[in-house]
Amino acid sequence: MSSTAVLGCMWGDEAKAKIVDVLAEKADLVVRFQGGNNAGHTIKLGDEKFVFHLVPSGILYPEKECILGSGVVIDIIAMNAEIEKLKNQGISFKDRFFIDPRAQIVLPIHKELDANKEALRKNKIGTTNRGIGPCYSDAVARVGIRFGDIFNTNYLRLRLENNFQYHNVKDYDVESLIAELQKAAEPLRSCLKQVPYYLANSANKEILFEGAQGSLLDVYFGSYPFVTSSNTISGGISVGTGFPHNKIDKVVGVYKSYFTRVGSGPFPTELHDEVGKQIRIQGNEFGSTTGRPRRCGWFDIVAAKFTAMLNGLDEIALTLVDVLGNLPELKICTSYSI
Ligand code: IMP
Repeated sequence: MSSTAVLGCMWGDEAKAKIVDVLAEKADLVVRFQGGNNAGHTIKLGDEKFVFHLVPSGILYPEKECILGSGVVIDIIAMNAEIEKLKNQGISFKDRFFIDPRAQIVLPIHKELDANKEALRKNKIGTTNRGIGPCYSDAVARVGIRFGDIFNTNYLRLRLENNFQYHNVKDYDVESLIAELQKAAEPLRSCLKQVPYYLANSANKEILFEGAQGSLLDVYFGSYPFVTSSNTISGGISVGTGFPHNKIDKVVGVYKSYFTRVGSGPFPTELHDEVGKQIRIQGNEFGSTTGRPRRCGWFDIVAAKFTAMLNGLDEIALTLVDVLGNLPELKICTSYSI
């Protein structure tokens, strides 16, 4: 067995998918360990475009197995739509797409809460409004619904009642939500897999862990509170899959040749001028999940060194160097002054 992780080391959108795609060719299993459909990337094969939010892009290789670990949060209705689209493009999921029963489910209430709380917030995070934060909050509040729970009607009812009580929601129709969740989950029943055991028993296999978002969006080590709600750093792999950290052989950190971020929060090297605009246009820096223009700025060595340290990087992949090709002058931030 050998295992490699590919992790974004900035605020996401480092073009990780390109690196994952190259390394997936040699892997047997491609595993997501955190995040949900707040992530997004597009892969072009010839003239065809494939869009991914939750499904690991390794699915494009017919012989690879793709896995969602316990740390991923799943909006099953959105995921079914993504799967359906990929199936229509000729991708087979049969016997090679697996989900840990422990993965938390994004409920309709999570999406409502995400939008409502963000609207009320004074310092807006700029969330993707996919219900990710409220879903992780419910997980740690121990009122979340896990993928495996959906297949046991009585237990699911109990868990949903707990959840609604916790959120003080009175006028809920628990039976129709049960029906909706079970209808969406039924086609995925065969995907249930005890991921920790499966990975531990994959002695002859090559495992590739695919990170979503980036280290500076990590809930503990990122630019809090302007972060996502999961552990995006290498330590998150163990937490989000049950794979022991000391069995991860190689951690590859992905950096772009310039920095970007979507949503709010500090960005020391942000460019508010024509150069920033030029980078945005040249690099097509518009969010793949929300379409928002990304904020662009110079490469920040202080932040880059920090995330290299957090992740224990063995290798670095530097992407999109060509975007800077037409600029007469390049700048790099080497220190901060207060
Ligand atoms: P949330 O994860 O939707 O709650 O969003 C929290 C913050 O993380 C916001 O600033 C988002 O713009 C940012 N974010 C979430 N997912 C991604 C991503 O895949 N790429 C870049 N930024 C992201």
